Amino acid sequence: MSDATEDALTEAIRAARTFLRERSKRPVFPDVTIESLRAALGGPLPVDPAEPARVVTDLIHAADPGIVATTGPRYFGFVTGGALPATVAAEWMTTIWDQPATLYVLSPAASVVEEVTAAWLLELLGLPRHASVGFVTGCHTANFTALAAARHEMLRRAGWDVEADGLNGSPTLRVVVGGEVHVSVLGALRMLGIGSRQVVSAEADAQGRMLPDALDAALGAVSGPAIVCAQAGNVNTGAFDPLEDIAVVARRHGAWLHIDGAFGLWAAASPALRHHTRGVELADSWATDAHKWLNVPYDSGVVFVAHPAAHRAAMSLTAAYLVRSADEPREPMDWTPESSRRARGFAVYAAVRSLGSRGIADLVDRCCRLARRFADRLRAEPGIEILNDVVLNQVLVRLPGGDDVNRAAVTAIQQDGTCWLGGTTWDGEFVLRLSFSNWTTTDDDVDRAAQSIVRAVSS
Ligand SMILES: Cc1ncc(COP(=O)(O)O)c(C=O)c1O
Repeated sequence: MSDATEDALTEAIRAARTFLRERSKRPVFPDVTIESLRAALGGPLPVDPAEPARVVTDLIHAADPGIVATTGPRYFGFVTGGALPATVAAEWMTTIWDQPATLYVLSPAASVVEEVTAAWLLELLGLPRHASVGFVTGCHTANFTALAAARHEMLRRAGWDVEADGLNGSPTLRVVVGGEVHVSVLGALRMLGIGSRQVVSAEADAQGRMLPDALDAALGAVSGPAIVCAQAGNVNTGAFDPLEDIAVVARRHGAWLHIDGAFGLWAAASPALRHHTRGVELADSWATDAHKWLNVPYDSGVVFVAHPAAHRAAMSLTAAYLVRSADEPREPMDWTPESSRRARGFAVYAAVRSLGSRGIADLVDRCCRLARRFADRLRAEPGIEILNDVVLNQVLVRLPGGDDVNRAAVTAIQQDGTCWLGGTTWDGEFVLRLSFSNWTTTDDDVDRAAQSIVRAVSS
């Protein structure tokens, strides 16, 4: 190793040690202004080279005041996982090795790690063992990849080659989603040439679960190739669409069934919670994240497709210089929209290897138990309501006093720094929203977060 790289890494590890030691003591959201960050990080385009270790030290110094403790135990915003020790170190090695996980010849190890991890994930999540798997940047891209495979296959069955002939003049592809579809599914469809006004929405119930009868009616009203997008884990309530009933309806209408399970799919890894995902194996494709509940560092998502030929047809590219191996190993680029890509499989491998299926089930169960504990703490307070059935790791809280009070409370709680939570709109009202997805969160963290909310209410 060159001295310069080693010196820069020494600075990084020193700062990493300090950050990790102090992470749970610092305010979860920093007291920083955009102006101070711009002043610390900005300036004219550097002209002269700088010593690498110095660059890293200065960067750490300037960025640290603007770093949010998202990997800490009391970050409950969005759906944010922490980073398991083995995954952090595996990520560092991924950078040191710097393998383009494109073709086997570019990195035999990265290719085989993906192959091994793919098989583990299929078993863990109860998906068909023959499904093809792609390691992508996140669930949004996983949704895109799965829906590209769906578009290929449903148009192929209608006699159309979308990769060759595009969408101009093609049979119309109908897409039905639940009333509470995640926006990334609509974003993925948009990139595939299906606009949001072309998508049919099937009514959802009060928890955000798609109603199978509404889906039946929606599919009955359209003809031609169709795709259904169901959901395992609503981003607000954590609720699951009734996947088995939806699969029966989709199959009766000859539709492709895709399941967006960014975090909820991990319930399938827990014997205690797997009932929520009953029927999941009947779908045609699935999308999930590793950077949420599996606690792999950003960015990491996974796509699964029960029809490998469709998956490959939608993604794979050939060129004379992209040399494929003679013995036909699994070529990583055949299953993702990227060609040159980070070897994301290493960190996912490290997560599964370090926790094992038992550890993953424990992690999922523990987060759900913490969500229930938090909900119980707040329910006991006068006037505070828990708006969702806490079936998973998501909790929606409504404080007394109306939208403005709830909005002000979110700001006050964020400024207090004990924890970080966000707001959302549910049933037309502004509410507080928490997600319990971090492997380090304890009962004490949950109680401290509940107290900070109670403090905000009383002030
Ligand atoms: C249900 C669901 N689908 C998709 C996504 C998008 O995932 P990502 O932002 O990791 O791409 C999310 C993110 O929260 C989600 O909750």
